[in-house]
Amino acid sequence: MDTIRIGMLGCGTVGSGVVTILARSGDDIAARAGVRLEIVRVAVRDLARDRGLPLSADVFTDRPEDVVAADDVDLVIEVMGGRGRAGDLVRSALANRKPVVTANKQLIAHEGPELRALAAEAGVDLMYEAAVAGAIPIIRPLKESLAGDRIRRVIGILNGTTNYILTRMTEEGASYDDVLAEAQELGYAEKPDPSADTGGHDAAAKTAILASLAFDSAVTDPDVFREGIERVTATDIAVARRLGYVVKLVGIASEVDGAVAVRVHPTFLPETHPLASVRLAFNAVYVEADGAGELMFYGPGAGSEPTGSAVLGDVVDVVRNLLQTVRGPLESTHRAATVRPMEDLTTQYYVLLDVEDRSGVLAAVAATFGQHDVSIAQVWQEGVGDHAQLVLITHRARESNLRSTVEALAATGGVRSVANVLRVESEGRS
Ligand code: NAP
Ligand code: HSE
Repeated sequence: MDTIRIGMLGCGTVGSGVVTILARSGDDIAARAGVRLEIVRVAVRDLARDRGLPLSADVFTDRPEDVVAADDVDLVIEVMGGRGRAGDLVRSALANRKPVVTANKQLIAHEGPELRALAAEAGVDLMYEAAVAGAIPIIRPLKESLAGDRIRRVIGILNGTTNYILTRMTEEGASYDDVLAEAQELGYAEKPDPSADTGGHDAAAKTAILASLAFDSAVTDPDVFREGIERVTATDIAVARRLGYVVKLVGIASEVDGAVAVRVHPTFLPETHPLASVRLAFNAVYVEADGAGELMFYGPGAGSEPTGSAVLGDVVDVVRNLLQTVRGPLESTHRAATVRPMEDLTTQYYVLLDVEDRSGVLAAVAATFGQHDVSIAQVWQEGVGDHAQLVLITHRARESNLRSTVEALAATGGVRSVANVLRVESEGRS
């Protein structure tokens, strides 16, 4: 074998990054892989578009099913996105005994266990480093470098769009709507519907993948508790800052009494935490392990060449394995941990209430918290008269108790509305 022939499904943001890096660094990549890599087929939707890439026109096709079936394709890169069509194509490629490298977090988060089983059955590799946090190596560290350790918790800033919005809100005191509109103009957030990012769906898929690897279990996207950043206001961020916190959208996968807890939500994070300094569209993953201690992986979580770099790293790995007729290390699911329902988790909370500014209201609010076994750590009033608000920070409490408190607060005399509730990461792990 003197050349490995690559079939690529998709040639958009990530695909063009792959092509560009391979054209620029092909000699080095060939020397590392042990053989030259050549992109021989590329499936796209629009055959008429000039992509300005160093590829001859005859490699392009609008029939992706031909790419995964072709005898002259040794390895498939899937950078098309979505689940249905992409999933069928990846299944076909694996059935045709072609190794697959994908950047598709949605697909791996939903169908990872099934696809990994198909790859094992076919005796070929399925790799997906680019699916989580773009350029940042995190899949291989969890699967291989930390295989001799026990991971207790993984916390990630896994979505650049939401981190960009929250950073701008924090640094400029700007409102969510204003920064979102600007992020959409700059191309960070999707138009017209930004909810894949702002609703936490993208981060949830990545968190499911990280949880599976960290805890040797088949965790999928529906297992992840998810809340987005849409309700975070400038007031929440100002309160957080005053208390020594920043507000970040985090994905957290942790071990709790032998089960796995997996969640994505905005949280108050102490400003001294290494993740608090991750600004704008950058991503980072913070891993806590028994032996290694605390590790942080940081870098660009998206973009054409950053993500293309992660794809090509996997390609080199797959090619080295192909040349030795072996497969790379498999993911282990030996612990098969159950997923702990969010209601059973404990954490601290920040609760913001719009209230009537009169005597007895604070007493009634405190009584409601007490009746539901939620202990208050701090409370104070912001504003006066029609603008009066109560800010409460709780001690650690069960999520189910906090939810019943919030329900009861809505019916507590003097409370106009529950303006917001956010979780606070500070006292130990959950
Ligand atoms: P993209 O820019 O929209 O590119 C998608 C490509 O797939 C396009 O070339 C498109 O063809 C082609 N395509 C879509 N449907 C097709 C079909 N039915 N038949 C043939 N070709 C089809 O997407 P992307 O941003 O590169 O993302 C690709 C994957 O990487 C996704 O799974 C995404 O989640 C993941 N990812 C992206 C990033 C990032 O920074 N963008 C980072 C990490 C992971 P046309 O060009 O003709 O439209
Ligand atoms: N939309 C993602 C983000 C990039 O904002 O980080 C692709 O995963």
